[in-house]
Amino acid sequence: MSVQPGDIRDDDRRPPVDELLELAQRGLGLHPRRLPSWLFYDERGSQLFERICEQPEYYLTRCEIALMRAHADSIADTLGDEVRLVEYGSGNAQKTRILLQHLRAPVGYVPVDISPEPLRQSVGRLAGEFPQLPLQPLCADFSRPLRLPIPPRAPRRTVLYFPGSTIGNFETREAAALLRKMRNEMGNDGGILIGVDLKKDHALIDAAYNDRAGVTAAFTLNMLARLNREIGSDFVLSAFAHRAHYNPMAGRIETHIVSRRGQEVRVGRTRVAFGEGETIQVEYSYKYSLDEFAALAARAGLAVHRVWLDPAQMFSVQYLVRASAVTR
Ligand code: AVJ
Repeated sequence: MSVQPGDIRDDDRRPPVDELLELAQRGLGLHPRRLPSWLFYDERGSQLFERICEQPEYYLTRCEIALMRAHADSIADTLGDEVRLVEYGSGNAQKTRILLQHLRAPVGYVPVDISPEPLRQSVGRLAGEFPQLPLQPLCADFSRPLRLPIPPRAPRRTVLYFPGSTIGNFETREAAALLRKMRNEMGNDGGILIGVDLKKDHALIDAAYNDRAGVTAAFTLNMLARLNREIGSDFVLSAFAHRAHYNPMAGRIETHIVSRRGQEVRVGRTRVAFGEGETIQVEYSYKYSLDEFAALAARAGLAVHRVWLDPAQMFSVQYLVRASAVTR
């Protein structure tokens, strides 16, 4: 009883629009002001993110795809037969395609994404390419507990696929909590296949978040356009700028929206005053050493079972299992 690809399950625990206003007001009232990075991913934001992935400076996607191509057989061997693959934040599922081409007798694929349109499109394409594979898309916020659909037949194991170094968007405590939540969802014999961007030359990292074509800047400012549309705020986009820099002490890219001048913005019934140069912090992108990531996994009761690197050792894909499962 597999679900038709056009038939996307909508998880009702996504935040409704009135909560969005409240969330924006709360974040803009903090010192420093702060909005969550998942707000980037409306339809336009998802499109802009795909264009970021094509920019020459944004090495992450290129390296991860090269890595998946080079090690697909080894990854498929490690995951084993009859896997149910659940992808967190599936987007356009380009890397997934490589994985699905190599997995043996996969039982099903559950793409989870907060943005319904990209989910619909990618599922439509995958359905054509993998006609035998049951697809069970889920429109939901993967950082909350998921109600996974019942698989069409019993898998040997559930593998949660979390590519793109999206884990880097979470601060240490939240990252550990998310990994722990994933550990519960995958079950005893499950695993997590996760993309993790690595520490490297700071100039290379900085460049990846400040592409010359300005696509990342457009992506960042689109968050304000989204708020204007969805909660009726009146941010003037040209009065704000994108700023991203690597903070070596914290080991992360810090992305801000900077007010270019003194101004007042209406957000619902409240007015938010910005001084010139005042910022809204919108994203962290943490970079890890292999040891640091292993320590993070350990905090979540997970052990690194395998690590694959691209030839330039810029990016890693890691397979995590329950810490107790390693010694068994
Ligand atoms: C998809 C979260 C991994 O942090 O590198 C890209 C998002 N932001 N450029 C990242 C992003 C700005 C991206 N992740």
